[in-house]
Amino acid sequence: MILEQYLHKTDVEIDLTSGRLKGQTVSLQKRSIADLKNVFADEQARLAMPQESLAYEVQLYLPVPEGIEGGLFFGNTTIYPIKIGNEYMMTKGHFHAKADRNEYYLGIKGEGYLLLMNEKRECWVEQMKQGSLHFIGANLAHRVINTGSDPLTFLASWPSDAGHNYEAIQQHGFSVRIIEQDGQPFIVKV
Ligand SMILES: [Fe+2]
Repeated sequence: MILEQYLHKTDVEIDLTSGRLKGQTVSLQKRSIADLKNVFADEQARLAMPQESLAYEVQLYLPVPEGIEGGLFFGNTTIYPIKIGNEYMMTKGHFHAKADRNEYYLGIKGEGYLLLMNEKRECWVEQMKQGSLHFIGANLAHRVINTGSDPLTFLASWPSDAGHNYEAIQQHGFSVRIIEQDGQPFIVKV
């Protein structure tokens, strides 16, 4: 048998320079400034921005149905370098609906921080840059902040039954914020 008769084409290829996923089954989810109500401390500054401006976008490869136990999803996220008041652009942040489910993030380009928070509301950060691998363990809320002047792109893989619990963060936020002060990122307690 020649090898080609056994060869299946994969659904998705990733351009490792840009982090873009290419494939017919890849979907795109966009978050604009309008979608980020009460994410930033300065809600007036957010409302003063063009509401349709793209804040971040997520490409999703979901090869099994959402909620299936044992499956894996894959995606990328690109966060644009936009300031809201003195805060950097960031993802909404979430716990997983099944809170013990884990996740990997892999930095592709740009600079920023992965903010993690446990159920006691203790926070810490990991620096994200090209090649940085981040293991997000059980019961941790996670959010990514783009502190650089270019778009920040990272890849992610997570269980198909993890789900998203955005409500806890919407209601209580994280216990710290990363702000720009004198051109540098600083962490402030909320
Ligand atoms: Fe997650």
